[in-house]
Amino acid sequence: MNNLKHHQQEYLPISVNITGKKILVVGGGNAALSKVKSLRRFNVSITVVGIKIDPAFLEIDNIHIIHKSYDPSDLDGFFMVYACTDNRHTNEIIREHCHARNILVNLADNPRLSDFVSPAIYREEDVTVAVGSNGKNVKQSIMIRDNIKKNSGSGLAGLPEPEKPGINGQPKPTENVKTTTYPKVVLAGFGPGDPELITLKTHNYLLEADIIFHDALLDAQFLENYPARKVAVGKRCGRHHIDQEEINQLLVAAAWNGKKVVRLKGGDPLIFGRAGEEIQFLNSHNIDVEIVPGITSAFAAAAQFQIPLTHREIGSSVAFCVGHNLAERELPQASTLVFYMGARQQCEISKILIKKGWNKNTPVALISNVSNPQSKVVISQLDQLCQHPLLQETPLLIIVGQVVKKMPEFEESNPPKEKKRA
Ligand SMILES: C[S@@+](CC[C@H](N)C(=O)[O-])C[C@H]1O[C@@H](n2cnc3c(N)ncnc32)[C@H](O)[C@@H]1O
Repeated sequence: MNNLKHHQQEYLPISVNITGKKILVVGGGNAALSKVKSLRRFNVSITVVGIKIDPAFLEIDNIHIIHKSYDPSDLDGFFMVYACTDNRHTNEIIREHCHARNILVNLADNPRLSDFVSPAIYREEDVTVAVGSNGKNVKQSIMIRDNIKKNSGSGLAGLPEPEKPGINGQPKPTENVKTTTYPKVVLAGFGPGDPELITLKTHNYLLEADIIFHDALLDAQFLENYPARKVAVGKRCGRHHIDQEEINQLLVAAAWNGKKVVRLKGGDPLIFGRAGEEIQFLNSHNIDVEIVPGITSAFAAAAQFQIPLTHREIGSSVAFCVGHNLAERELPQASTLVFYMGARQQCEISKILIKKGWNKNTPVALISNVSNPQSKVVISQLDQLCQHPLLQETPLLIIVGQVVKKMPEFEESNPPKEKKRA
């Protein structure tokens, strides 16, 4: 007998006669919507079950919408099922229920657990070309499908993906044969807080956007200048904690719905911004990513308080570090260290640096709310950080190194002084 554990998943490309068959889609969000949009081109009976149903479903003819929470008995009589709720665990439970009834099931964004996956297709009268990748490389399937389509010379329509609109003056994909047909997300940096520190490019993308997914710390009032719909997705947004998985799904759904999507992050998106995970997830869902850099808070802090992060005599290198769980990390060998996310770890930072050989008198600048009116700086030295809380306001950066002495406010004073600078 074959040991299935050692085999990758494989999908048999067959064309199933689904004429008049009953298909159930569980879920009323974007994932469900895109399945329904693909399916309605076929002569099938589509039922959608969900508590929250996106109003866009109401514009689709000939589908049966049931506003209710999912129940296993909903599956009875269906030929195949798409489990498209926004909860992976619920989708997995639906899968179990389907299997108990011998119904084929597809789980949104989970080819590994799906009994079938949808290949990239295009149709020309009675001919259908379907390109699959065992659920592994959707982007490549679509590229191959597009090449076949281009070379067929028939210029047929009928692709499942929504048209991607041009972004910020760029031509629409259909206007340029070299441009891919994929949707795109712009990952842009907002800078440290002061809206005057955003780049012109980010500003232009924000003006063009249909939807802006933004971090919690960003200036919500300023964002009102842009007509796009704003969705706060940061950890500090209200009481509801949106986790990274949820953010990823929201980005994918909006992009595939043809929206011009900007994911706006504080500072620079590539500095402690989890951008890497978002890029990987978006690419794996066949979505292009463009990154617009932002001014990271360390650069803004250095500028605001005139701290040269490097200096010809006393600072030949600078490193950006995470300020927590330092015991588990290797400290970089640099003359200046800038700690992000270390507001509550000041004492730990001090102890670990001194243990690793840093002089206890090394100057330290604690800087909160860089570039905002309530910004403060406290100048101190390493061995003072455990004495009493010097500055606890957040967001906070901690700059350690001899270069701190070069800032105009530096005085070797004890106790340390707190200063405000607008
Ligand atoms: C998740 S990291 C994001 C960093 C961001 N991508 C950047 O480039 O600045 C959040 C940390 O950045 C720092 N930070 C961000 N904005 C700040 C500001 N305006 N003032 C001081 N620190 C800031 C704080 O250390 C905060 O804990």
